Amino acid sequence: MTIESLYDDVTPIKPSKAFSEKAIIKTDDDYNKANTDRLKFWEEQAKQLTWDQAWDTPLKWERPIAKWFVNGKLNATTNCLDRHIMSKKTDKTALIWESESGDKQSLSYKQLHDKVCRLANYLSQSCNIKKGDRVTLYMSLTPELAIAVLACARIGAIHSVVFAGFSAESLQDRLNDSESVCIITGDIAIRRGKSIKLKEIVDQALDNAPSVKHVLVHKRTTEIVNWVNNRDHDFNEALNSSSSYHEPESMDSEDPLFILYTSGTTGKPKGIIHTTGGYLTHAQYSTKIVFDLKDDDIYWCTADIGWITGHTYLIYGPLLNGATVFMYEGTPDYPNEGIFWDLIQRYKISIFYTAPTAIRAFMKSGESIPEQYNLASLRLLGSVGEPINPEAWNWYYTHIGQKQCPIVDTWWQTETGGIMITTLPGLHDMKPGSAGKPLPGIQAQCLHDDGTAIHSGGGLLSLTEPWPSMARGIWGDSKRFNDVYWSKFDTYFAGDGAIVDDNGYFTLLGRVDDVLNVAGHRIGTMEVESSLVDCPKVAEAAVIGIQDRIKGQAILAFVILKEGISESIDLENELKQFVAKKISPIAKPKAIIFTPDLPKTRSGKIMRRLLKQAANNETLGDTTSLSNPQIIKDIQKQLSK
Ligand code: PRX
Repeated sequence: MTIESLYDDVTPIKPSKAFSEKAIIKTDDDYNKANTDRLKFWEEQAKQLTWDQAWDTPLKWERPIAKWFVNGKLNATTNCLDRHIMSKKTDKTALIWESESGDKQSLSYKQLHDKVCRLANYLSQSCNIKKGDRVTLYMSLTPELAIAVLACARIGAIHSVVFAGFSAESLQDRLNDSESVCIITGDIAIRRGKSIKLKEIVDQALDNAPSVKHVLVHKRTTEIVNWVNNRDHDFNEALNSSSSYHEPESMDSEDPLFILYTSGTTGKPKGIIHTTGGYLTHAQYSTKIVFDLKDDDIYWCTADIGWITGHTYLIYGPLLNGATVFMYEGTPDYPNEGIFWDLIQRYKISIFYTAPTAIRAFMKSGESIPEQYNLASLRLLGSVGEPINPEAWNWYYTHIGQKQCPIVDTWWQTETGGIMITTLPGLHDMKPGSAGKPLPGIQAQCLHDDGTAIHSGGGLLSLTEPWPSMARGIWGDSKRFNDVYWSKFDTYFAGDGAIVDDNGYFTLLGRVDDVLNVAGHRIGTMEVESSLVDCPKVAEAAVIGIQDRIKGQAILAFVILKEGISESIDLENELKQFVAKKISPIAKPKAIIFTPDLPKTRSGKIMRRLLKQAANNETLGDTTSLSNPQIIKDIQKQLSK
């Protein structure tokens, strides 16, 4: 059985001539080079970095572990900072930051280098942290978090950033799994006008995290926090008391740069390992070509550094390219729904990279809000994290990009380290809802269950050749790495369903465990959700499969209505008919539950697993990563009525 797409074909949209003419990638040259000699192509990209010692072999591949640029040596921060301050970029702004609290900061490359070196000196001299030690960062989205990430990289410590919205228990699990010797945190984080007492959460987590010997606290307030002598250190004092140059540690290309924990379908979070040379090579290359990043751009990626998008496309990728990065501590709807557009207007943001869930929230509040701002500085838009439905794509294209900005819909994962599939903005036509093609040097295929390739049609998405930024393992669990990603096929199995068309464009259907099987037809949850959201009355939708005696699975849809629309049985029927008409009667939801919100992770992903558990009357799994834990309880109550 194959995965079926029931979508109508969409009309491709060409990037504007004005954009294409000035784009970094205008031709198929990189594709041709990579197709002729993939390793040589990647070596050419790696040469764009500054190495202390050249590699002798581009790739050693012993499935499932790749070694890239073998025996090469380099330091991430030499590449992100030193080489820019030795050029005319020394006074260029590296980081512009604003918080919802109104606090602001701006750092030139030289100033950032100075702070990173000071912290690196303190970590190595006063906390005795050495190459290979793990340091956990649990901080709000502030420049100090970026400084901490880079200071770890400077001394060769492996950073593990834990999103500052996770609970003490989740933090403790991650501290213990990585056996971190140090944690860097803040006194508070700020979110929607409230201050969250981070240090208290850290203290709780440290009740049972014996490996941690040092806690650095970045104080933003004068409030007194609990202080443990000989363990706790003041971050600001650490910077002030240390010297402003630190000799970078020369790292082996394959030395780990960081661990990042990500959830699997079951079990404890996986600490995905990324190493130095290959990761940085792809981060630099992909940021440049996908975002068409130029020297005068002001680039904003809205992700938190607690997620992979923040690692690769808020810190490493843009800084490697010597760009100016904008960073914002706050949410899209606080203190008002126009805040993102206000920031774009004030800072003249030219590249804006966000998530579909944010775009759908903007749609829900209506275009009259962005219309009040001048968004003319924008020239490129990006999307990441989940499939973007064509209606949201078109809204983003029309109301934010004024039909002038290409959209890059970028498919990738924590495990892939960087963008794998997208359209190159000056080269390719865009197809709303479809991510596009694998980047030069990346090979992707849709496979049947038995591992045979599908040249046109739906299947399981696999990356079929090793690439430089691929995960090197799961921290402390090589068996799990093999089982999760490498046991289904000979090649890397991404866990997503996708359709590939005759032009080689991939349309993502969501996680395979989210792919429904209704009466023998596989239907992507995303297709049904997307069609529901296409209905002008619907703001957001999530669908799951529930057991059905006749069809195997039936579709249950959870729907958030747009402002001013009331729920009714008539509307439920209308929506069912809408889906039946839009996709096919087999995709028609069996029931629709109207809800004011959906259970989402703090990065905005809908947790369909919890919806399934609620619908099947099962005990709910881990809800600690939810941004809105109450909603799943409300949904449970509603379902039991
Ligand atoms: O299902 C895919 C979805 O997000 C998953 C990866 O999640 P994570 O490791 O948290 O990384 C998110 C940021 C890269 C993928 O397996 N996903 C990500 N981007 C897209 C997407 N699905 C469809 N289209 C995308 N552009």
